[in-house]
Amino acid sequence: MTIQKVGVVGCGLMGSGIAQVCAQSGFPTVVREVNSELVEKGLKGIEKNLARLVEKGSLTETARNEIRGRLKGATAIDELKDCDLVIEAIIEQLPAKRELFAALDTLCPAHTIFASNTSSLTVTEIAAVTKRPQRFVGLHFFNPVPIMKLVEVVKTIATDPAVYEEMISFGAKLGKTPVRANDSGGFIVNRLLVPYLLDAIRALEEGVGSVVDIDNSMKLGCGYPMGPFTLLDFVGLDTTYYISQIMFDEFKEKRFAAPPLLKRMVLAGWHGKKSGRGFYDYSDPANPKPMSL
Ligand code: CAA
Repeated sequence: MTIQKVGVVGCGLMGSGIAQVCAQSGFPTVVREVNSELVEKGLKGIEKNLARLVEKGSLTETARNEIRGRLKGATAIDELKDCDLVIEAIIEQLPAKRELFAALDTLCPAHTIFASNTSSLTVTEIAAVTKRPQRFVGLHFFNPVPIMKLVEVVKTIATDPAVYEEMISFGAKLGKTPVRANDSGGFIVNRLLVPYLLDAIRALEEGVGSVVDIDNSMKLGCGYPMGPFTLLDFVGLDTTYYISQIMFDEFKEKRFAAPPLLKRMVLAGWHGKKSGRGFYDYSDPANPKPMSL
């Protein structure tokens, strides 16, 4: 089969980005949120991104109108019933994801493929709530979705090889480079990224260098686009803490254990850029002030 129509559940940062790239790649796309305010907020973000592309001359007005025409916001889950693929990008909590997929399983036809954008939960455990674990994969996108060229296509022990290949080619149709990953905690990227970010915090705790010096070291010494603390603030300290807990639980290895400083910052509500404070203070967004220990 080939995918004709895509459903995206969740229109936050990740869901709106996924919906945008699906519509940009020619797929009629329905994006669902729990209420109309959240739908509007997500669609506004997409509109802003498309406007920037038109301004830069990388998208014509006509193409933008076509993309808009392919995108539909929805609050009722019923609107997803004729989708060939449903990609979930809701809150990173297992019970919420399982509840959603149980409902989608009764709603969608047997051929519909289900995908979760989870970054750290076990895809197998989410799929197990449905009667179609063979038609279930992980599709893990990266923030900002319209820019980042990677999608991890995650295969569980139950995924049908034909469905998996279909999802690999779907990832390529979105203009991404799909990589093949098994359903192991954190897949490929977070398996390597999370210990690196946690080690940067440990280096800071041990006084190896300051926030700025550690950031500059990795930016200028290794050519990373952002230093680890800028990236931690960008991803969210709460998100990183949550992922590290899931990965520690899976592997029981120290490299995945959250450093005490990370835990305390999360407890203090310092969640990074989105909360205005993390390893940098964003009171003046144009001039973030680094934390000093
Ligand atoms: N949405 C859409 N476009 C965006 C954007 C956003 N949020 N942020 C930046 N852009 C665009 C800009 O418009 C610009 O486009 P042009 O080159 O066409 O003008 C381009 O991206 C570069 O932006 P900037 O010049 O403003 O800034 P930059 O060069 O520093 O790039 C960045 C910004 C792409 C975010 C870059 O810093 C980067 O790649 N950072 C690392 C991001 C990363 O590692 N993401 C993965 C996080 S891990 C994750 O998501 C998964 C998980 O499970 C935790």
